[in-house]
Amino acid sequence: MAHRIINFSAGPATLPLSVLQTIQEDMLDYHGEGMSLIEMSHRSKTFDALVVETEALVRELMGFSEDYQTLFLQGGATGQFAAVALNLIREGKTAEYIDTGAWSNKAIKEAEKLGKSYRVIASSKESNHNHIPGNFKVGNDAAYLHITSNNTIFGTQWQEFPDTGDIPLVADMSSDFYCKRFDPNKFALIYAGAQKNAGPSGVVIVVIRKDLLERSPVNIPTILNYKIYAEKNSLYNTPNTFGIYVVNLVMHWIKDMGGIDAVEKHNRQKAQLLYDELDRTDFWRPHARKDCRSLMNVTWRLPNEELEKKFVAEALEQELSGLKGHRSVGGIRASIYNAMSKEGVQRLVDFMQEFERKNG
Ligand SMILES: Cc1ncc(COP(=O)(O)O)c(C=O)c1O
Repeated sequence: MAHRIINFSAGPATLPLSVLQTIQEDMLDYHGEGMSLIEMSHRSKTFDALVVETEALVRELMGFSEDYQTLFLQGGATGQFAAVALNLIREGKTAEYIDTGAWSNKAIKEAEKLGKSYRVIASSKESNHNHIPGNFKVGNDAAYLHITSNNTIFGTQWQEFPDTGDIPLVADMSSDFYCKRFDPNKFALIYAGAQKNAGPSGVVIVVIRKDLLERSPVNIPTILNYKIYAEKNSLYNTPNTFGIYVVNLVMHWIKDMGGIDAVEKHNRQKAQLLYDELDRTDFWRPHARKDCRSLMNVTWRLPNEELEKKFVAEALEQELSGLKGHRSVGGIRASIYNAMSKEGVQRLVDFMQEFERKNG
């Protein structure tokens, strides 16, 4: 049995052990084909069947209607910052963004660089993004409203999604993809880099409402054109075959866990364990406002930077890795994605209590 430590990395992140074991078993001979999946043509019947199944699984697990299609693309969520603007902003329309942190900002910058008409209708910048802004009004002329459903760096998460009526709602769900139930049919487009909750890096999942495909202009780069990739069922060029295969395994893992509701229950229990500890003593200084706390990325400071360094170093000695916070918040960040076990979080909480007892 391989030695595995508890990995709180923000992404690429821990994957379910059973998924890793299946990959290991399949590696030399995928389903009796005499070769691994990553050596197989993306035009083969076997791979085609895998894409067809995964495309449907992604939709079914969350309850997307038949009006949606899943695409598996490359270029990460960062590629989607440009793709969304290029495909969906039409002449005379303005894209609207809500700025909830570094990733929202990168999406906004991309629209700006492309010379698109855009406006930022709300921002949490003045409080170093410790909350999700509540007071905003979506314009009648908006091409779409773009939100970041979970802010990986700051540890905030939308608790309820805005109702935008006929204006397409677009979300970057890279760091909370399928962590809890929501009504997916409210969205026009959801995208997520797979490397946190859904698989390895190098594949980005896009679920798009099919009527929006008509917006894709012909004169944008083919690699970013939703319509072309939808027509070819993600196989216009060579996709990340390994990435799609792992996403398939992770979707099956979610199903086997009991589906989204079971995963959500597990996630809420894990987050509760950690937030209860953060609220137990003033020694911990949580960054996110209580009503905006993320189920996936938990961020907090300690009384000083020296103690923060000590915390990260001593945690690693206990085989609790990846806890150093992002420089724009500082302190500690524990990423507790779907595949993180409750036992893993409990180990962290036990360590925190011991650390506070010695240093508090
Ligand atoms: C919310 C969010 N959006 C976008 C990205 C960028 O993703 P990628 O590295 O796949 O381009 C990240 C990466 O951490 C993220 O957390």
